[in-house]
This record gives sequence, structure tokens and C-alpha cells, in this order.
Amino acid sequence: SIGDAAQGAEVFQKCASCHEVGQAARHKVGPHLNGIFDRKVAQFEDFKYSRGIERARRDGMVWDLEHLDAYLENPKALVSGTRMAFRGLKNQKDRNDVLAYLRQFSAN
Ligand code: HEM
Repeated sequence: SIGDAAQGAEVFQKCASCHEVGQAARHKVGPHLNGIFDRKVAQFEDFKYSRGIERARRDGMVWDLEHLDAYLENPKALVSGTRMAFRGLKNQKDRNDVLAYLRQFSAN
């Protein structure tokens, strides 16, 4: 496994002002994050993404573990022009844990 999902639920508090997961999750400032693993970036047609992340989608970027990790560490470094106003999780364990938490809301 990636990290500790229970710890990741705590870390997710840093995301929860903008993102929801779980049953009845809806888009807020950011899109809901159910099923994010191994999905192409920026796939929701009912969410208005930035031009920066839409360029990444057209380039074929997929939210595999490596890209999720890089985005959470420094969003604008991975996706130039992304609208996600988040300074990033600089701690690798925090990233591992929050990804383990998110993984629970993705199939397989
Ligand atoms: C996009 C995760 C924190 C606002 C995304 C995406 C992921 C993500 C995976 C891509 C979604 C997609 O491709 O459909 C996270 C996680 C966070 C976090 C795990 C905490 C560690 C935040 C915060 C905000 C935010 C705090 C608001 C201040 C957004 C927005 C987008 C986005 C607006 C769309 C980006 C764009 O259109 O360029 N987030 N996020 N996120 N997030 Fe976050």
C-alpha cells in the first residue's frame, strides 16, 4: 500500500475546503476526487477547468501515482497554469497518506 489511509483522512482536511470524496461528493471549488486514480486529468465535463490543466489533458496526462504525487507536492510545477491554489504538501509521508486515503475512493 501507499501510506496510511487513516492518517491521510487527517491530511485531507487541507484539501476539504475545495474537494469532496465519498458518497454524495460534489464539485466545489475543485472537482470531487472519487475515482481519480488512473483517470486522465480534467475529465469532468461539468467542471470548468483552467486552460493549463486542459492542456495537460490534451497532452495525455494520466493521474497515476507518480503524477498525483508530483501535483500534490507542487501543483504549478507539474501543471503550468493550474487554478489549484494550493502550496503543496512538501512532506512525502503526508502525500503517501493522503493518496492512500484517496485510493479508497477509486475502484480496484
Ligand atoms: C484539481 C487534488 C487541494 C482546488 C485537483 C486535481 C486533484 C486535486 C487530483 C485534479 C482533478 C482532475 O483532474 O479532475 C487535491 C488534493 C488536495 C488539494 C489531494 C490536498 C492535498 C486543493 C485546495 C484547493 C484546490 C486547497 C482550493 C484552494 C482545486 C482546483 C482544481 C483542482 C480549483 C482544478 C484545477 C484546474 O482547473 O487547473 N486537485 N487538491 N485543491 N484542485 Fe485540488
